[in-house]
Amino acid sequence: MEEMRLQKYLAQAGVASRRAAEQYITDGRVSVNGTVVTELGTKVTESDEVSVDGKGVRLETKKIYIMLNKPVGYVTTVSDDHGRPTVMELIDDMNKRVYPVGRLDFNTEGLLLLSNDGDFTYKVTHPKHKLDKTYHVWVTGKAKTNAIRLLESGVVIDGRKTAPAKADVIETTNGSAVLSITIHEGRNRQVRKMCQAVGFRVIGLRRVYEGGINLGNLPLGRWRHLSSAEVKVILKNAEHGE
Ligand code: URA
Repeated sequence: MEEMRLQKYLAQAGVASRRAAEQYITDGRVSVNGTVVTELGTKVTESDEVSVDGKGVRLETKKIYIMLNKPVGYVTTVSDDHGRPTVMELIDDMNKRVYPVGRLDFNTEGLLLLSNDGDFTYKVTHPKHKLDKTYHVWVTGKAKTNAIRLLESGVVIDGRKTAPAKADVIETTNGSAVLSITIHEGRNRQVRKMCQAVGFRVIGLRRVYEGGINLGNLPLGRWRHLSSAEVKVILKNAEHGE
């Protein structure tokens, strides 16, 4: 292994995302060969002994990429201060450490990627890469006329207009509808807030697509490995923007 920056080493080892690893370093939680290191530019090689909170960290060479069909009622963090169930409980039949790539709300279900590859996580989640994500949204309520066109052209949420999106009605049944909305931003509770802004009440939200990958018919609560073709597609889309 060539020399590598400490934060990249930690991300590749699956400890945390690169940005979170930087925080670990500046917080003084990381040591190299027994000495605490707080300098972000520190370089390490395979022969160095790296530990976080006193626990040794080895570079995992096998990269793992999975998708989970997240049910409602789980947080997409590794642990939760309020004791709520985490998505980690749904993948504990896999004997490798992987981490959520991005987030889904507690009340949202659908496609969630997980990986031990910090670079992959960085590329897929960085807003500048503008990866498309498609959601199916179950709504009721009295929408404004042209609600779909408004969603597409952008609505103001939290004081700022959303970027252009794609929106369609997939189904309507007395008073309720299922919409398909594709966005490439990842603002907090974005789809819910967009729908509320045009007068819909959101009663269900499912992510069905991300960066070239479809949820397909993966059962709720189950996970599967991505194929190498799928990993390539998502990385290619992350590099070029879709
Ligand atoms: N938009 C939301 O409102 N919630 C999610 O979980 C994802 C996108």
